[in-house]
Amino acid sequence: MTTACHLLDLDGAQRPFVETLVSRARQFKAGVPNQGLRLRGRIVVGMFFEPSTRTATSYAVAAQRLGAVWLDFRSEESSLRKGESLEDTMRTLRAIGADAVVVRHREAGFPHLLARHFPGSVHNAGDGAHAHPTQGLADALTLVEEFGDLTGRRVLIVGDIAHSRVARSSAKAAHLLGADVVLCGPPLLLPSQPAWGFAACTSDLEAALPGADAVIMLRLQIERGTHGELPPADDVARAYGLTLQRSQAMAPHAILMHPGPVNRGLELAPELVAAERSRIAHQVENGVYVRMAALERTLGHADREHAA
Ligand code: CP
Repeated sequence: MTTACHLLDLDGAQRPFVETLVSRARQFKAGVPNQGLRLRGRIVVGMFFEPSTRTATSYAVAAQRLGAVWLDFRSEESSLRKGESLEDTMRTLRAIGADAVVVRHREAGFPHLLARHFPGSVHNAGDGAHAHPTQGLADALTLVEEFGDLTGRRVLIVGDIAHSRVARSSAKAAHLLGADVVLCGPPLLLPSQPAWGFAACTSDLEAALPGADAVIMLRLQIERGTHGELPPADDVARAYGLTLQRSQAMAPHAILMHPGPVNRGLELAPELVAAERSRIAHQVENGVYVRMAALERTLGHADREHAA
C-alpha cells in the first residue's frame, strides 16, 4: 500500500508513482540546489527491529541531506522493554515531534500496523517476506541508469523467492517500468504462476541466464532458518548460486545485481561481487537518492495533510 504520506509497499503502485520517484532520485543524484532546506527541521526516526547496514544508513544520510534530523530508536533500550504498548510508543514519538518513522521488522504487516497508530509518515524498510519498497526503487533506478527504457528488457531474479521481500518489491518496480520479470529458484521456493499476477517462473537457471539483461541474485536468508519441507540453504546455493562458470552463460551486456548483504561463495562467487558487470555498489549508492525522493514526497504530502 502506498498512500500520500506513507511508503508501505509497492503492491498497489502504478507506473507513474515509480517513474516519478526514480526521476526525482536521478535529479537528487545530479545535484538539486538547496536540497538541505527541503526538510529542514523535520524529524525522522529509524525503528530497526532487525539488523541493517544499507537501508538504515542510507535513510539516515538521505534525511540529513534534506536537512531533517535523524534519530535512532533503540528498541532494545526503549520503554517497549518495560511493557509500553506500540500504540503508546507511537503516540510518544509523535508528541516528541517525530514527523516520520522508518521501520524494519520481522513480521510482515508491522509497518501497516504502525501506520494505524501514527499520524505522521511511515516508511517500510523491510517487513518479513513481504516488501522492501525502497530496495525495489533503488533497483529500478539502477536498471533505468543502465538501460533507459526498460520495455522488453528481461530481469531474472534468482534464489529463495518465497522468503524474499526484495524479490516482490524489485520485481514489481521493474514490471511497472515495462520489464519482463522471470523468477528462478527451486519449485518449493517459487510462487505459483504467474507470480504476483505478472512474473514468469522457472527452475532452470542454465536455460534462463542467457536471455537476461539483468540478473538479480538474492541473499540466502540463513538467519531465518529453514522449515522441514524446504530445501537446505546449502542445496539451494549449489543448484542456484551464480558461480564463475555459470556467469559465463550471461549475455555480454547483461548486468549483475544483488541487494546485499552478500553471502560470498553461497549465492554469488566472491570474484563476481566487484566484477565489471556487477552493479552492486550502484544499488547501494542509489539507495540514498531514492530514499531522499521518498522522504521528500511523503513528508511533503504529510505536511499538507496535517496542515489542514
Ligand atoms: N538490502 C538491504 O536491505 O540491506 P541491509 O539489510 O543492510 O539494510
